[in-house]
Amino acid sequence: MNEQGGSPYAIPRISLGMKPYIFIPLLGVIIYSLWENDAVENVTAPVDVVPPIEHSASLETMVGHCAECHGETGADSSGEEPYLAGQNIDYLVFAMRTYTMGIRHHADMEAAISGITLKDVKQLAAYYASQDLAWQGDGVGVEAFPEFSATDDPLVGGERLARSQCASCHGLPVQAGVPKLNGLAFEYLLGAMSEYQRQQRSHVIMGEAVSGLSIYQLEQLSFYYANQPPERADELPARAAEAPERVTSCNGCHGDDGNSRKKSVPSLAGQDRDYFIRAMQGYQQGERKSEKMARAVASLSEPEITALADYYAGLPHQPVRVRQFKKPKKLAKACNTCHGYNGHSQNPSRPAISGQVEGYIVNALRQYQHGERDNNAMRKITQTLSQLELLAIADFYANQD
Ligand code: HEC
Ligand code: HEC
Ligand code: HEC
Ligand code: HEC
Repeated sequence: MNEQGGSPYAIPRISLGMKPYIFIPLLGVIIYSLWENDAVENVTAPVDVVPPIEHSASLETMVGHCAECHGETGADSSGEEPYLAGQNIDYLVFAMRTYTMGIRHHADMEAAISGITLKDVKQLAAYYASQDLAWQGDGVGVEAFPEFSATDDPLVGGERLARSQCASCHGLPVQAGVPKLNGLAFEYLLGAMSEYQRQQRSHVIMGEAVSGLSIYQLEQLSFYYANQPPERADELPARAAEAPERVTSCNGCHGDDGNSRKKSVPSLAGQDRDYFIRAMQGYQQGERKSEKMARAVASLSEPEITALADYYAGLPHQPVRVRQFKKPKKLAKACNTCHGYNGHSQNPSRPAISGQVEGYIVNALRQYQHGERDNNAMRKITQTLSQLELLAIADFYANQD
């Protein structure tokens, strides 16, 4: 798309070597045309929030300062700094201002930008936007996550782990007292494992089983088990003749047939009866903490619990909606609607993300996910991303030229 040697936008390349009088009128035009732009207007705080410095530093001095981290043309990065070269101009103005207005937080950037006037910000944006988009293929990757390769299929990694570390207990058929994991919701499985890891749910064996695993491995395992077929109906214990009375109070959350439609509520259909009984006692005695379940078990007697356990154990488990791993190519279709074809945004107020530094994309996506960077669209789209999908989509865009 954006070939080397030509800026994708109608802004002539600004060289610091140019005689200043050549580019002052030019800059004037750019600044004037930017004055009323959307990105600036989207920031609700008034323009004079940016405190003016005593005398506006020259573009060259400013760029020299920024170069410490972003390189002379904004095309350097040690892995954390984003590339600025060839980025969309309105977006650059907007991004710089978010640091001075406390919308985005980063100590280095707040220091670098503090005291810079709006005029300076626009000059800097025009300068970086006019540089060659020289982002691609520089290998600035995500060094913090060496164990993970974005091209790995999580089901393959998950199967490898499950076979070597979990199958002795969780392989079907399970021993009495061990839960069946196949077909449980991805979110529930991941949540349960994280709880063992943080000892919010205490169980010596499970605590040990997951203690050394990274979030990526926990996700691989969750994708794996969520996508495995549960036991067939004819492999289950004989079904109870009729449903116990108390089951009506469970249906709203766990589903009429014990197949949950909710991500954070486990299916009970086909679950091991001894495990079921122990789980219920855990909720009753407060060893296993869940407000919803504490209320649900409060008035149940021992025989009622046993009847429920026997009933659910015989129901066929039919997962309602199985969470698939979203491959980056597919996911990118949603991103491209805003960021342009493969991230080459032509919309001046939306950032280009093609060829951007991988570690920076990962950080940015996590910031949106955790609400540390505020943007509705980005919060919404990152909310449902697993960490594996997040790394894979970052890797995808980092490798677009
Ligand atoms: C000490 C290092 C450092 C200096 C100096 C510095 N930056 Fe940054 N800059 C960063 C880092 C790190 C980030 C990423 C911060 C984040 O994640 O929010 C960043 C982010 C940015 C962004 C946001 C880009 C985006 O895609 O959202 C812009 C724009 C920017 N810098 C411009 C500048 C300009 C202009 C200067 C000089 C006035 C400058 N920076 C000086 C380290 C630096
Ligand atoms: C030595 C046997 C054993 C091994 C090995 C083991 N588990 Fe478990 N697992 C259990 C038992 C027993 C429980 C029930 C614990 C409880 O009552 O909270 C359990 C519970 C769980 C649960 C909670 C299920 C639910 O319905 O809430 C998950 C998820 C889980 N294990 C995943 C794994 C994974 C993934 C591995 C491999 C990394 C693993 N387990 C290895 C025995 C084992
Ligand atoms: C208001 C919603 C709600 C109701 C009503 C409810 N549950 Fe639950 N149930 C949950 C949630 C949420 C969890 C997961 C809690 C956790 O993480 O420990 C859960 C977990 C369980 C578990 C543990 C399953 C496992 O795999 O570890 C069992 C067993 C269970 N419920 C049985 C029942 C029964 C039987 C009833 C009816 C008497 C019932 N629940 C009613 C929401 C509910
Ligand atoms: C509805 C429009 C929309 C969609 C869909 C969307 N984005 Fe964004 N994205 C934006 C906007 C607007 C921004 C600038 C937000 C800000 O102020 O931080 C942004 C910012 C970003 C940034 C930060 C760029 C930088 O330089 O700091 C990244 C990375 C990003 N998006 C990636 C994605 C990915 C990956 C997807 C798909 C999973 C996606 N976006 C989907 C609109 C969208």
